[in-house]
Amino acid sequence: MQGELLRESQSRPPEERQKPESGGRYCPVLLSRRLVLRAPHEDDIDALAHLANNAAIATMVSRMPHPYTAADAADFVRRTKEGGIGKCVYAITLADNGAFLGCCGLEPGDENGRTLEIGYWLGEPYWNEGYTTEAAHALVDMAFRARDIDQIDARCRVMNVASRRVIQKCGFQFQGSGMVPSLALGGMVPVEWYRLDRKTWLSLRSWGDTH
Ligand SMILES: CC(C)(COP(=O)(O)OP(=O)(O)OC[C@H]1O[C@@H](n2cnc3c(N)ncnc32)[C@H](O)[C@@H]1OP(=O)(O)O)[C@@H](O)C(=O)NCCC(=O)NCCS
Repeated sequence: MQGELLRESQSRPPEERQKPESGGRYCPVLLSRRLVLRAPHEDDIDALAHLANNAAIATMVSRMPHPYTAADAADFVRRTKEGGIGKCVYAITLADNGAFLGCCGLEPGDENGRTLEIGYWLGEPYWNEGYTTEAAHALVDMAFRARDIDQIDARCRVMNVASRRVIQKCGFQFQGSGMVPSLALGGMVPVEWYRLDRKTWLSLRSWGDTH
């Protein structure tokens, strides 16, 4: 019996082998060439408050208040720890020195659990070094390997050239456009909607050396 189970398991491709029973909140620490993605904690509050208090970030994401205070940062860390945000949230940190760079995460993208939506922001001093693309690759790989999902969605404001580029460098494909609420702007903003499905991810898995 054990042999049968082993053979059955080994006959499946690696990506299929370790799927959990359902898409629960499995958020392992992720390592990449330059980064460690781990759960946010209290030591991040100062850097988080400092970096997130930036209109150039708040106006590009849906639910970040602006101005962003230390109390907002503490509340974010507390809710993340309690699972209150309802998604897999990561602090993006430098492997070399542990510096906090920003956040990324995955949240449910539909009601049947087959779709996740990716989100991210990075502190402005760290932009254009390829960090978000590197983090997104790690997050996407984890999601398709560890979760029983069919696709990952991404949305960015139509004017957000940098985020669109990250999405493209991760292999997402344009699906359409729409509107989403922006807390910082207090209204709806036009967005583009992109999707990466499992088959496309499988064909892209060796991301290459460029970011
Ligand atoms: C979007 C964001 C996360 C990108 O982070 P990042 O670490 O700088 O991203 P990367 O370095 O991995 O890639 C950025 C790409 O955008 C390109 N880019 C940035 N600004 C650009 C511009 N004004 N015009 C053209 N390309 C631009 C960079 O050149 C790079 O592409 P390349 O590698 O082909 O040269 C960061 O700018 C940010 O936090 N912005 C505010 C919050 C936000 O927009 N979050 C996403 C919401 S959908």
